[in-house]
Amino acid sequence: MADGVVKRVRTRHFQNAKEQGIPITGLTSYDALTAGIFDRAGIDFLLVGDSAGNNVLGYDTTLPVTVDQLIPLTRAVAGAVQRALVVADMPFGSYETGPDEALHTAFRFMKETGAHAVKLEGGVRSAEQIRRIVAAGIPVMAHIGFTPQSEHGLGGHVIQGRQGEGVEQLLADAHAVEAAGAFAVVLEMVPAQAARQVTEQLSIPTISVGAGPHTTGQLLVWTDWAGLTTGRIPKFVKKYAELAEILDGAARAYIADVASGAYPDEAHSYED
Ligand code: KIV
Repeated sequence: MADGVVKRVRTRHFQNAKEQGIPITGLTSYDALTAGIFDRAGIDFLLVGDSAGNNVLGYDTTLPVTVDQLIPLTRAVAGAVQRALVVADMPFGSYETGPDEALHTAFRFMKETGAHAVKLEGGVRSAEQIRRIVAAGIPVMAHIGFTPQSEHGLGGHVIQGRQGEGVEQLLADAHAVEAAGAFAVVLEMVPAQAARQVTEQLSIPTISVGAGPHTTGQLLVWTDWAGLTTGRIPKFVKKYAELAEILDGAARAYIADVASGAYPDEAHSYED
């Protein structure tokens, strides 16, 4: 979609991309500086994901993340972009009890952050919530396949939508969120052929997070994509930089310079 013509990415551009076979690109972002960089580079959308739980807040899972924690991060991202569509992720425990709770949370994100859309997890089980939010005029990105907020219920980080019942459930979830009015659907950790089937059957765009190449768009968690995450990263992530190594080298050089007296030198000190 990065064509230089679109001044501000809207949900209708997602739909045009699906109809014209133009790939959509997305990254997560949790702060103003990365949001501005990714936006100027031409990214189509930024997700302020509850993956901030792991990547910013230091939790092991996304489960403890709250709306109050995500609101300032989402405001920072939305305030830093000029072109990208900003999607606010609704965290665990902020929408599951029903459409009223879901709408209340979506209102908070839209009124307090400047985001352009919200995302929530779940297919058939979240369809009523999606319907209510969309009816209030708020665009919803759905999220099916592996849904990290249900990792304990799903038995860990397990690929979803494998042959047989898995594909049937995935297709049922995909059709449910489309019928409920979602403008796009994230497919996470799904076999490429199952994602292809979903993409062929739906009229809304599909966004892959580890769901292969046959979707309308791609989304990655920026800290994985840029090599800032240390430790295990999923097989589907391609690293486009090695930020952890760069920062490690910079920190070591700084420590050595201060120890030796090489920093600060005259060039980095004020004169009288
Ligand atoms: O929170 C997040 O980053 C996400 C993506 C992995 C889809 O939900």
